[in-house]
Amino acid sequence: MTAPLLEVEGLEAGYGDVLVLHGVALRAERDEVVSIIGPNGAGKSTLLKAVYGLVRTSAGSVRLAGEEIAGVRPDRLTRRGLNFVPQLDNVFPSLSIAENLKVSALALPRAERAAALERVHDFFPLLRERPRQRAGTLSGGQRKLVALARALVTGPRLLLLDEPSAGLAPQAVGLVFEKLAEISALGIGIVMVEQNARRALALSHRGYVLDLGRNAYEGSGRSLLDDPKVAELYLGGLSRSASSSISTSTPDGMNPPTK
Ligand SMILES: Nc1ncnc2c1ncn2[C@@H]1O[C@H](COP(=O)(O)OP(=O)(O)O)[C@@H](O)[C@H]1O
Ligand SMILES: [Mg+2]
Repeated sequence: MTAPLLEVEGLEAGYGDVLVLHGVALRAERDEVVSIIGPNGAGKSTLLKAVYGLVRTSAGSVRLAGEEIAGVRPDRLTRRGLNFVPQLDNVFPSLSIAENLKVSALALPRAERAAALERVHDFFPLLRERPRQRAGTLSGGQRKLVALARALVTGPRLLLLDEPSAGLAPQAVGLVFEKLAEISALGIGIVMVEQNARRALALSHRGYVLDLGRNAYEGSGRSLLDDPKVAELYLGGLSRSASSSISTSTPDGMNPPTK
């Protein structure tokens, strides 16, 4: 049996003396899309940062394809096939699109860079059309695509994404989720934190609800969407199946799941 792509067990992490994660578990199999949802301050971003070596862990384990990576530096993790797209500051605004990608490609051996850049250009036509445009002048949605492309350049097996759709106009949200589905179809694992919880769960093989630094619920994306308790506590209202007979409006201005 092959080890899961990512397996987190009993993870404790925090800032200074303050513990934020109190023994969190998480698993992502190869090719899976996994969503982490939960209230503000639950520790979702801290979890991603702890996995990616940006926040110090004090207990527990983080294994990438069976190998312990807790405490490994982010740049090393990138070379081992794990990459992270933070919610903010994920592009260099004063650099052009092409320059942004080239900076990411520096993580690769010199001989592999050109091919890696070429692959990403095929995936995001915009990058080929406007390579010299400064990233800072792009719309929020386009900038997010550049951030995703920057991560993809490094040839990840698994991407950690913090709030990929946050702050985007509804149309851009749709575009980003479409790209995530395409990335998943390439066989790249995705673990994302999302406020747009219904949409994220609809795309996810597996979902986790994190609350107060602990696992609260987990299950298939569908089972979490259909769980009335999860809907009430974390999805802003009745579960979709229950609410559809009452109202066609979507809670919190979210877009309805496409499936
Ligand atoms: N750099 C930091 N220094 C100190 N405390 C932090 C820092 N980042 C986050 N926190 C605290 O950690 C807790 C969890 O934050 P976070 O992981 O950002 O939650 P979420 O992403 O679920 O909203 C919050 O109480 C937050 O105030
Ligand atoms: Mg966060």
